[in-house]
Amino acid sequence: VHTVSECLAVLGTSVIVLFSDLSLRPEFRSHAQCFTFKVRTMGLLSLAWVGDGSGVLLVLTTFQVPLFMMRFGQSNLYRSEDYGKTFKDVTHLINHTFIQSEFGIAISPDHSGKVMLTGDVSEIGGFKLFRSQDFGLTFDPTDLPFEPLIQMMYNPRDCNVLLTLSITLDLWLSEDFGATWRKIHDSVLTPPFFLLDDKGMLELRKTVDYGLSFQTIATRVYSFVLGGRFVFASIMTGTGTERMIHVSADGGEVWNMAQLPKVNHEQFYSILAANQDMIFMHVDNPGDSGVGTIYVSDDRGAVFSKSLERHLYTTTSSDTDFTAITSLRGVYMTSVLTEGGSTVITFDQGAKWRPVRRPDNRQCDTETSTNRPNRCRLHIHASYSTTMKMNVPMLPLSQPSAVGLILAHGSVGDAESALSPDVYVSDNGGYSWLWALRGPHHYAILDSGGLLVAVEHTSSPVNQIKFSTDEGQCWHTYNFTSDPLYFSGMDSEPGSRSMNVSLWGYRNDFSKWVVITIDLRKLLTRNCTEGDYVAWLAHSTDPSGSIDGCVLGYKETFLRLRKESVCWNGRGYATTKKLSRCTCTMDDYHCDFGYHRPENSSECVEQEEMKGHPLEFCLNGTTEQLQTSGYRKIPGDQCEGGFQPERKETDLRKMCTSNALYPNSLTENSSLNTAVIVMVVIAILLTSAVAGVWLVKKYVCGGRFLVHRYSVMREHVEAAKIEGVDDIDPHYMETGKAQDNEDSDQVLHTLCNALYLAKLCDYLLFICVVVSFHRTS
Ligand SMILES: *[C@@H]1O[C@H](CO)[C@@H](O)[C@H](O)[C@H]1NC(C)=O
Ligand SMILES: *[C@@H]1O[C@H](CO)[C@@H](O)[C@H](O)[C@H]1NC(C)=O
Ligand SMILES: *[C@@H]1O[C@H](CO)[C@@H](O)[C@H](O)[C@H]1NC(C)=O
Ligand SMILES: *[C@@H]1O[C@H](CO)[C@@H](O)[C@H](O)[C@H]1NC(C)=O
Repeated sequence: VHTVSECLAVLGTSVIVLFSDLSLRPEFRSHAQCFTFKVRTMGLLSLAWVGDGSGVLLVLTTFQVPLFMMRFGQSNLYRSEDYGKTFKDVTHLINHTFIQSEFGIAISPDHSGKVMLTGDVSEIGGFKLFRSQDFGLTFDPTDLPFEPLIQMMYNPRDCNVLLTLSITLDLWLSEDFGATWRKIHDSVLTPPFFLLDDKGMLELRKTVDYGLSFQTIATRVYSFVLGGRFVFASIMTGTGTERMIHVSADGGEVWNMAQLPKVNHEQFYSILAANQDMIFMHVDNPGDSGVGTIYVSDDRGAVFSKSLERHLYTTTSSDTDFTAITSLRGVYMTSVLTEGGSTVITFDQGAKWRPVRRPDNRQCDTETSTNRPNRCRLHIHASYSTTMKMNVPMLPLSQPSAVGLILAHGSVGDAESALSPDVYVSDNGGYSWLWALRGPHHYAILDSGGLLVAVEHTSSPVNQIKFSTDEGQCWHTYNFTSDPLYFSGMDSEPGSRSMNVSLWGYRNDFSKWVVITIDLRKLLTRNCTEGDYVAWLAHSTDPSGSIDGCVLGYKETFLRLRKESVCWNGRGYATTKKLSRCTCTMDDYHCDFGYHRPENSSECVEQEEMKGHPLEFCLNGTTEQLQTSGYRKIPGDQCEGGFQPERKETDLRKMCTSNALYPNSLTENSSLNTAVIVMVVIAILLTSAVAGVWLVKKYVCGGRFLVHRYSVMREHVEAAKIEGVDDIDPHYMETGKAQDNEDSDQVLHTLCNALYLAKLCDYLLFICVVVSFHRTS
């Protein structure tokens, strides 16, 4: 989007001449390697990276046709040891067994090279495991005594321990990396497998000894989820269809009612994000409004205060734009319902929200800017926009290793720009944005942010990749092939430290997958040295102020690569930062229960309807009265001295029931009329379910041949490990609403994203395949 002269100003003449078209540089010309998968199958392709920095990539291609109760399928397995440049067909290692793409590959999260493939040999009766402990070099076949319903889950603290659920809802556990299995419980449901009929009738049980004993920790459960260090359960209150969120910070021993509005059967709660300190909770408004309110919790997860109203959250397909930015602490983005829709951002864990700033290099058309200035804002598109059928091929992207960087699709003002969103980049965690690329793109962060790459999202074949060495200010092109391909997706090793990027697609013969891997290492001719880095104060908005950069009680100064430096950070690069404490100000506080912050204000004011009603709530069996001047320190805030408003919780010495769990019924012979039991194995259940596995689907529905869609099943393994970053399935939602979307393509997409409906999806996919074969013939 920058003109050449603008980029010259940024980069200096010599650089732009050198890089304007890389394909002219002979030494770079040969660094795109192409590999064709000569298989007859179309359908699904799953990629899984094994280990960290091992360069090992497993690719599974699957074609499956469900015929009534039986399934006929075919899988091929390929293995690369050089980041996807060349592959070997290793299908013989799995004896040509059919592996289900949806949950057939499970990679251990500890990077030890453990791989588990679940093979379906149901035509001769049964299921098989193929277990590898050497990065997929050899596999050990083992019979599985049950039919799995979900992905094998690893205990992240001991990857020899695996847990899974069978199709008959039995819970199975292995302590020897799948060699032997034992059934530890029956009638088990885990999220998202709650059946609508049983909601509100479930029991929550836990085991801490790998299933030798179980303890019931809650009854009348509607649903539950683990988030951060909290366990949440939605419990029927006993009055009609009302239910309330209960929270436990000690693995279900002590429960407290969360101080949140009650909801009825047509509303829902949804945990948007949770970390070690606090949670963000969305509470749906009554009626079918599609909006609700975001509440933020205290450090016990018990007392909540209002953070954002009119928060957009579709009821039909459970989508919201809520996004945690992983490249800067405290930053979250989402959309609120306003005229024209609007993206808002918080830099302090939800204490204050403000509209996202429009980039200086993007003007709004004059008609809109004079008549409807509100519309001239930058609107960032995430999941919500995707369900609104906008042409947004990727969600916002940020990586902990690439400090401050965010790439996202967005539009400014007019309807035309909303139809075909552009790519915007922020290099300071969302404070300011830059219009970077015209039209929708796929993008990736390489070399810890030192290099960005993008490929245009179009329906025609592509032969160009764009890249930027200055955090998205200037982009250059490289023609990676003389024979353009229909582009499906881009992938690089998780963690964004790689310099190899693979582009997946196909040429005119759509039955073959083509992968082109580009080694961009050759682009950066030298390693970065000390002089290439510069100190950068995070969250800096007012360089002259003494509290500049203070967020959540401290400042962070990072060493960041200079924009004009064209060099390689390297695989061993680790971000360096210095911390310093701040004194407390009003900005270190959330507004307390019953208070809110008017727009543009730091001060919290009491809500009219709450005046003269101090909050009384039940905590651990006694009534507490909250006396507050309106402020509550943001959980995790480390400020010292300064502004210290008064806040007291007085024990009124009155007994109360701090939960609706009916502790009396928690005896051993609790009525077992409940057929279904919800259970949580706290010690091991962390859903690393689909970590590192990425599916590319060639959808063939929708009238036109080969519509490409992405599955969003790739979980960021890295992100899950960083403390303070959300470590739950981010959009847990406990509603049970049916989907009523008349557009079958959309339904298919939505369904396919839901793992548990994988089988139904196969069936739909099959119908579509047949339809399109019909069209071509
Ligand atoms: C491979 O599969 C065939 C049947 O599909 C079976 O007869 C054969 O024993 C299997 N070989 C191994 C090594 O499991
Ligand atoms: C690169 O590809 C584009 C079309 O995608 C073409 O217009 C351009 O001439 C090519 N450049 C070179 C040097 O081949
Ligand atoms: C890119 O791939 C090559 C192997 O083809 C490997 O030697 C190199 O280390 C990779 N680069 C990075 C930065 O991962
Ligand atoms: C808040 O500040 C912005 C910019 O400083 C201004 O445009 C807006 O009108 C303010 N809102 C209120 C309610 O004062």
